[in-house]
Formats: sequence, C-alpha cells, structure tokens
Amino acid sequence: MIFTVAIDGPAAAGKGTISRAVAARFGFHHLDTGLLYRAVGALGGDPVAAARGLTAADLARDDLRSLAAGQAASRVAAIPEVRAALVEFQRRFARREGGAVLDGRDIGTVICPEAEVKLYVTASPEVRARRRWLEVGGDEARVLAEVRERDARDMGRAEAPLRPAAEAVVLDTSVLTAEEAVAEATRLVAARLAGG
Ligand code: DC
Repeated sequence: MIFTVAIDGPAAAGKGTISRAVAARFGFHHLDTGLLYRAVGALGGDPVAAARGLTAADLARDDLRSLAAGQAASRVAAIPEVRAALVEFQRRFARREGGAVLDGRDIGTVICPEAEVKLYVTASPEVRARRRWLEVGGDEARVLAEVRERDARDMGRAEAPLRPAAEAVVLDTSVLTAEEAVAEATRLVAARLAGG
C-alpha cells in the first residue's frame, strides 16, 4: 500500500509528536525532514555539496536538536540548490511501500502535493516558544525571538515557503492538547484509509 501523510507547520507546533503517533498507530514509516536541513547546516562548509552528499551517519549526529542547529537549518533551507538536492530522497520515502508520514515545511505544497492526507499543525509563537524553552532551558525571551526569526525566514523565503497547502486540515495546538491533536490526526487518516 502506498499512502502519504504530509504534516507541515512552524517550529515546535507539535508536528513531531503527531507524526510519531500516527506512524506508530498505522505502522507507517516516518521521516522528520527537518533533520535533513539540520544535518546540512551542522556539516558546515558548502551547504549544496553537503546536501548532495548527505549520508545516514550525518542524520544520526546527536547535536542536531539544539536551537543553533535549528537556525543553521533554517538558513541553509533558503538555498534553492540545497532544497533541490533533497527532493528525490523525500519523494521516494513518501511513496515507500507500507505508508509514510513526512513532517516539515513544504511536504504538502512541494514534496508531495498528491499526499492522501495533509495537515498543517500550528500554534501561537508564545505557546511554541514556551514548549521549546521547557526542552532547552535558557532565556525564554531569547527562545521566543528565535522562534519568530525562524518563522519569518521559513515563511518569507522565495523557494518553498512555509504555508498551508490548499486542502490541508489545520490543527491549532494552542487550543488542542497533544492527545486531542493526535486523536484528530488519527481520525483523518483512518477516514481516508477507509475510502473517505
Ligand atoms: O522542523 P525543524 O525545526 O527541525 O526544521 C529546521 C529548519 O529546517 C526549519 O526552520 C526550516 C527547515 N526545513 C525546511 O525548510 N523544510 C522542511 N521540509 C523541513 C525543515
């Protein structure tokens, strides 16, 4: 069975939690596409060469979760040749046998416009910054500033900017608990699998 769930949205909106839960519930493969850009940013040097030569080992580095890695990812992600180098891998993953969940910024708009289910997971910048701050600590105001900076760059870039796909269902996790958001995502996938 070929079945793609595209989950897009800004940083710390809850995409990861929802993606992992949906993948586990339906036995789908899961790809966190932000990791690709984080790895390219962390490798340093020429980002286009890094994207073209990316390996599984690059994705397993344990320094990819930091705020700095997120900012570096957002910067290299604005380079069209970096994005182009990563498209094929993501499209192949999306059509893997057994179903796939991909989360990122442009999955429903660019990578997989034909995805069977498209979700746009969002929340206010303050709510997202609070969540990220609880994970990473430090100065909450600075975390909020970084969230806003990354939003502006990811939404404002010319190539594959972050925006909801036309048919995406929007889940606002400022007003939904994680359990409610997962339940809604699960319901949408189950309905589509049943032919809805
Ligand atoms: O989801 P994340 O925070 O790990 O993503 C890090 C950065 O990578 C994000 O700020 C923008 C970029 N990104 C992207 O441009 N397209 C994607 N599909 C995923 C991430």
